[in-house]
Amino acid sequence: MDKLIISGGCTLNGEIRISGAKNAALPILAASLLSETPVVIGNIPHLHDITTTMELLGGMGVQLVVDEKMNIEVDSSSINRFYAPYDVVKTMRASILVLGPLVARFGQANVSLPGGCAIGTRPVNLHLEGLTRMGAELSVEKGYIKARAGRLKGCRLMLDQITVTGTENLMMAAVLAEGKTVIENAALEPEVVDLANFLNAMGARIEGAGTNVLEIQGVESLSADGLRYDILPDRIETGTYLVAAAMTGGHVKLKNVRPDILDAVLDKLEEAGADIQVAEDSIELDMKGKRPRSVSIRTAPYPAFPTDMQAQLTAMNAIADGVGIMTETVFENRFMHVQEMQRMGANIRMESNTAICTGVPRLTGAPVMATDLRASASLVLAGLVAEGETVVDRIYHIDRGYECIEEKLAQLGAVIRRVPH
Ligand code: EPU
Repeated sequence: MDKLIISGGCTLNGEIRISGAKNAALPILAASLLSETPVVIGNIPHLHDITTTMELLGGMGVQLVVDEKMNIEVDSSSINRFYAPYDVVKTMRASILVLGPLVARFGQANVSLPGGCAIGTRPVNLHLEGLTRMGAELSVEKGYIKARAGRLKGCRLMLDQITVTGTENLMMAAVLAEGKTVIENAALEPEVVDLANFLNAMGARIEGAGTNVLEIQGVESLSADGLRYDILPDRIETGTYLVAAAMTGGHVKLKNVRPDILDAVLDKLEEAGADIQVAEDSIELDMKGKRPRSVSIRTAPYPAFPTDMQAQLTAMNAIADGVGIMTETVFENRFMHVQEMQRMGANIRMESNTAICTGVPRLTGAPVMATDLRASASLVLAGLVAEGETVVDRIYHIDRGYECIEEKLAQLGAVIRRVPH
């Protein structure tokens, strides 16, 4: 397994380009299963989770052509297996996103249930209950969800809890259902909106994306008709580099971003003392060499502060001036980075789902590792400001969600290198 070795103490300066959003690309690739004709998807990030999704679709008989710019043409007219094996699903839970499209278009699916996950139990009961309400017959046999259905029937679905991939799966199923489906308490995340825009561009009739009530009028079929769709920029990658710059007292400009979907994160960075200028598709952050002030956050579904940025803010608070209180309300076990940061000298106390962090003037480099994507990224950030060398192990987690992280950080002046194992 590769490692990242970081020599701390550099101030980040310069410009980088942000990649397409992982969490929009994954459902949109799954949604291409719904199209009768080939579709081209652009601004796809070069990530391990994308390769896994391509393997998953390829295993079903879908034809995929990738060009050198990571535009992917997906042709699902030749699909002949409706199967998502455990070996794939266990490495990427988002594989569950093929369930809705397979059931809706082909009336059958055999998809492994995702197992446990490092950040919480993460059940998919709401995905399954919704599909059942639409008329699918589902059973769980030997760890697999077996689904059979005729044409799904539109209905009213009230989700007990806000779920991002649950909303996406049910929305994808509903676009081909007979009649109207209303999804209440839907997720508002920009990635859900991007998926709805993609589906509508193929002929779906979805209204209300970005609000908590989705109204979906089912259509007979979807067709891409020469459509090329570009994935929206990754707001979590954007936020991660902004926090990195703020922690190091730096000055960076991030291009190909969507500032309008980052309000909660930008507000906290301004509170920490950053000077932030936004243009239509760029964000410039200048910390003017200052040490950040601690900020308190409470994670919750969009538009509140994203759980996917909590670990990075913890890293910033670890070296900030003052006490920051971070409460995690989305996943029950998303503080794996805390113990590793403590090994680097951070002063963090846990009280159930809250981390109370008293900033220290400096961290010290150490060998560290984490068992999920955002926690791993936060350890890289901690390494940037630590005295001496930090070795981050198990970085395949980072490769799942950050395109060329060491190259982008090096472009901003970080001293970081990848060591193959
Ligand atoms: N939940 C249920 N039942 C369900 C579905 C969800 O109880 O059927 C609960 C979950 O256990 C959790 C809460 O609802 O406590 C919210 O989970 P959600 O379903 O929204 O999460 P997800 O769809 O599995 C997506 C992102 C995550 C991100 C969360 C929250 C993708 C592929 N993944 O996961 O991204 O943290 O939404 O915003 O979109 C990441 O990129 O690092 C990542 C983990």
